[in-house]
Amino acid sequence: MELAITPIGEIHTPFTEIKGMPIQPAGARGIRGTVHVYEDYVQGLEDLDGFSHILLLYYFHRVHDYRLTVTPFLDEEQHGVFATRAPKRPNPIGLSVVRLRAVDGDRLHLENVDMLDGSPLLDIKPYVPDFDQYTHVRTGWLEKSRDNVEHKQSDERFSE
Ligand SMILES: C[S@@+](CC[C@H](N)C(=O)[O-])C[C@H]1O[C@@H](n2cnc3c(N)ncnc32)[C@H](O)[C@@H]1O
Repeated sequence: MELAITPIGEIHTPFTEIKGMPIQPAGARGIRGTVHVYEDYVQGLEDLDGFSHILLLYYFHRVHDYRLTVTPFLDEEQHGVFATRAPKRPNPIGLSVVRLRAVDGDRLHLENVDMLDGSPLLDIKPYVPDFDQYTHVRTGWLEKSRDNVEHKQSDERFSE
């Protein structure tokens, strides 16, 4: 089966270069961005302003192929791509929980953005702790490097 997906908007952030940008929203605290939602989809934003945080699903548009094992930013060893958040994946879709500062017509004002400027937006969902947050979790190979996520910056290993 092949799927065709149409972007519903575009994400704007200060990041035009992959090198040096944050690798997760935890490393992008306070960094502002916007979403421009295309006209055909603006009605779907009704009531979104009641939520402080949203999930953005977007296309890693500067990734061109994929690998099934990768050395992620937070480790020096290889892992299966589905055990990582590496952008070079069979379906290069990013998922970020960001703070929603305001909704203004067709614009969303955001904080904690970790994606490149111009990333095509695929979907928006409200972040709901009762649905999305778990307290007793295991985090696999990331256990040993979780403290690094705020400081680690991206290099270009996945954009070559
Ligand atoms: C590790 S991914 C994590 C993104 C998201 N929070 C997730 O977990 O799916 C973030 C990195 O992907 C790369 N990246 C971000 N936006 C991109 C885009 N539109 N095209 C290609 N690479 C991108 C940058 O290297 C950035 O540091």
